[in-house]
Amino acid sequence: MRIILIILLSLVGVTFSQTSTPKPKPLDPIEDVPGLPRVLLIGDSISIGYTLAVRELLSGVANVHRPPANCGPTIRGLEQLESWLGDQPWDVIHFNWGLHDLKYIAPGATPRHSGRLTDVAQGEQMVPVKVYAENITRLLDRLQKTGAALTWCATTPIPQGAKGRVPGDEVRYNEAAAAVMRKRGVPINDLYTFAAARANEIQRQADVHFFPEGSQVLAGEVARKILAQLPIRAQIARAVKTLAPVDDLPENAALPALLGSPAPSTGEWPGMRAALCDQLAFYEYGFAPGAPTRLRFQVLREDRRALDGKATKREVRVHFGPSETPPMDILLHVPNKRQGPAPAFLGLNFHGNHTTTADPEVTITSNWVPSRGEGVKDNRATPASRGTSASRWPVEAIIDRGYAVATVYHGDLDPDLNDSTDGIQPHLTGDVGESQKDHQWASLRAWAYGLSRAADYLVQLPDIDPQRIAVMGHSRNGKTALVAGAFDERFSLVISNQSGCGGAALSRRRHGETVKRINGSFPHWFNGAFKTFNDREDYLPTDQHTLLAAIAPRPLLVCSATGDDWADPEGEFLAAKEASAVYEWLGKDNLKNASMPEENKLLNHTVGYHIRPGEHGIGIADWTVFMDFADKQWGR
Ligand code: GCU
Repeated sequence: MRIILIILLSLVGVTFSQTSTPKPKPLDPIEDVPGLPRVLLIGDSISIGYTLAVRELLSGVANVHRPPANCGPTIRGLEQLESWLGDQPWDVIHFNWGLHDLKYIAPGATPRHSGRLTDVAQGEQMVPVKVYAENITRLLDRLQKTGAALTWCATTPIPQGAKGRVPGDEVRYNEAAAAVMRKRGVPINDLYTFAAARANEIQRQADVHFFPEGSQVLAGEVARKILAQLPIRAQIARAVKTLAPVDDLPENAALPALLGSPAPSTGEWPGMRAALCDQLAFYEYGFAPGAPTRLRFQVLREDRRALDGKATKREVRVHFGPSETPPMDILLHVPNKRQGPAPAFLGLNFHGNHTTTADPEVTITSNWVPSRGEGVKDNRATPASRGTSASRWPVEAIIDRGYAVATVYHGDLDPDLNDSTDGIQPHLTGDVGESQKDHQWASLRAWAYGLSRAADYLVQLPDIDPQRIAVMGHSRNGKTALVAGAFDERFSLVISNQSGCGGAALSRRRHGETVKRINGSFPHWFNGAFKTFNDREDYLPTDQHTLLAAIAPRPLLVCSATGDDWADPEGEFLAAKEASAVYEWLGKDNLKNASMPEENKLLNHTVGYHIRPGEHGIGIADWTVFMDFADKQWGR
């Protein structure tokens, strides 16, 4: 009797729980929460697998929709995209096709996109790669018309033994799609590399699908990539859910640990890295908007015979989209003698592109420039300032070693004044709530944003290798190079030269420039929250080793000068040594067992360090070290 009662009760319980909270289904439509951005996920069964988890991760931040269908191959997309887009505007569209394009089907299916999976030997490929690339281009034409911020998602791995598909085809299809995306400036979520790194934990055997926990893991990465494209207010709204308000932070004199104990599986790194970036944005550098949707590159001039024929020089104006946003100019030199696309260095300059070379053709900036520069009158550059920083930019020597070099004046993005009404920020920030203002971007993040837009340009050039773009910078531009490298993984090598406080030097050491000093002299460099750490460094939940670690596993070189005590060389070395814990865990050579080297001895590891004699500054000696480092790290 008791058993029957228990059975009856449990049946009632089951029925009750079923009627009161029906399990949501990924293909069911959802109601919008008014006021939140609208996100559309386009993809096949892999995306159906992660839809609910992405929705959950972004709940209260964005309305995450998907078409009520498996979006199949590109040929289905071409037929149905219009109805999937509907008539309401989208803020972000995260999209993928590929897994069905590359599959083998029995010949003669109608419509072809419903063709059934068959053995490779008996079938034919649904959409050959050339047609796939054409279809992707047409789909992108339509998607770009929506005005939404787009993110292309790469196709996940095909495991050995998966029926009707050939492992390796997804790599070819991904490459074809990535080439289109780079050309059109569409950010890429490389879910292929992400999933391949931990396929044995998350993907089924001989099956393209993922275990439920695996779909959850993919959802984390997809949600992160979507979040980066959402307006600043949405990014901050998400961050406040997980990060403590500055007033609630505990005092901690020790450097915050970068890895838990025991260290998690290395497959966790993308999520951990994103969490570090969130902290850095929230407490120090501020959140920045996603890539603009209407970026335009205007070639101002090109000289294929620059530097006595050694280089092609190009000046390119980058228009950000929203009218009135000031543009930025890139000055690029590419070596003419090279085998294949050239690796490149990209960095900001202090006084205008025309100061980096005596070349009389380079446009003189019309923006505000600091008065301390030579040839400057009333904070405007005159022709007398041409080439005044040329010793900092040894272009010919860089070209001679086979590297391209690109530079941008940081004042194009945000003049270096304590004033956030000039530069790009007022045009791209969007609405931000009063309580969120302390967490929005400041000058360093705006300058880093400009470096990312310069990367948008470089990655679509046939003469530049998109896999080998180094970001470098000196002093405040060195801080910026680290920020750019931490937040934008397309920078495959990062170099800071004497970046000091807010760059590579540990804040907790309070040596040379301190948090209070820098916030007092340059309040516009960091966000509002960072001011609360004046004389309270021990309350920082991060330190500058966090910034360096966020660059892992990519090569990172920290450079100091003995006479530059203001930038605290030892603090820079120690930060790199501390960040080495992450590099070590990821299997990269590092500074874990190193002590501060003697002058001029490059510690050329994946995380490397160099100190030279002399004062604060940059010149050919420093560039020689940068290039030696890049040569080794890039295996040249
Ligand atoms: C000042 C500032 C430093 C900065 C340097 C520079 O010295 O205090 O933080 O690195 O300027 O950018 O040249």
